[in-house]
Amino acid sequence: MSALQETPLIQLQQVSRTFPGPDPVHALRAVSLSVARGEVLGIVGRSGSGKSTLLNVIGLLDRITAGTYTIDSQSVNKLSDHQATRLRASFFGFVFQQSFLLASLTAQENVELALRPHGAPRKDRRAIAVAALKAVGLGHRLQAMPATMSGGEHQRAAIARAVAQHPQVILCDEPTGNLDERTSAEIVAMLLDLANRGTAVVIVTHDLTLARQLPRVLTVRDGTISAGLDSGLLAGRDD
Ligand SMILES: Nc1ncnc2c1ncn2[C@@H]1O[C@H](COP(=O)(O)OP(=O)(O)OP(=O)(O)O)[C@@H](O)[C@H]1O
Ligand SMILES: [Mg+2]
Repeated sequence: MSALQETPLIQLQQVSRTFPGPDPVHALRAVSLSVARGEVLGIVGRSGSGKSTLLNVIGLLDRITAGTYTIDSQSVNKLSDHQATRLRASFFGFVFQQSFLLASLTAQENVELALRPHGAPRKDRRAIAVAALKAVGLGHRLQAMPATMSGGEHQRAAIARAVAQHPQVILCDEPTGNLDERTSAEIVAMLLDLANRGTAVVIVTHDLTLARQLPRVLTVRDGTISAGLDSGLLAGRDD
């Protein structure tokens, strides 16, 4: 049992992602990293350094062009698109800078809709959605339409939508990008709390205040990664 727990949940070994074209872009260059169950990992780096590409590769939204990627000890290099889509839905939750709530549905309906591919009966989907929204402090906003919700409420609903699907890993790309400091702090606390309950959380962020609160941070620079928060980022942040 302990050996199982020590196996990284996700592991990238010498992974590269090159975007082909007349001028190929080497967005990831031989990157190796692993994430354990319940771990929180921050990813920082300048614009264009490869952060989103790394997150997309991890979340099976994008394919690698070299190296090995294993999820739960299984190589995913050779999965068909269909298999990758299924694994993505069962294994990963996503929280982006924008919530991508459907404007014509209430907060609750948005979460319920995301549960449909998971096959639970309608009544169960309703109960799961309500519980997930309550857990992020939106119990009083179940019937709210997205246009009437604040930025923080959008992100809470997006987290509820991800969590309701019981993913092993939640991947966040700039989850606090549109939020003020205090609301950001609440969202971060919520993500850290998820990790305490066993969900691994990977957070891409420009926000160094946020990054400093995370137990482990990697810096991406020109498609390569290094451990820790690169102090050069602090100095050259606004250039
Ligand atoms: N689909 C694509 N086709 C070609 N090049 C791409 C594609 N997606 C990303 N790139 C390039 O890959 C590099 C890394 O992009 P990526 O989006 O991962 O950066 P990022 O670190 O997330 O930047 P930001 O902080 O601005 O979001 C950039 O040079 C970008 O232009
Ligand atoms: Mg990005």
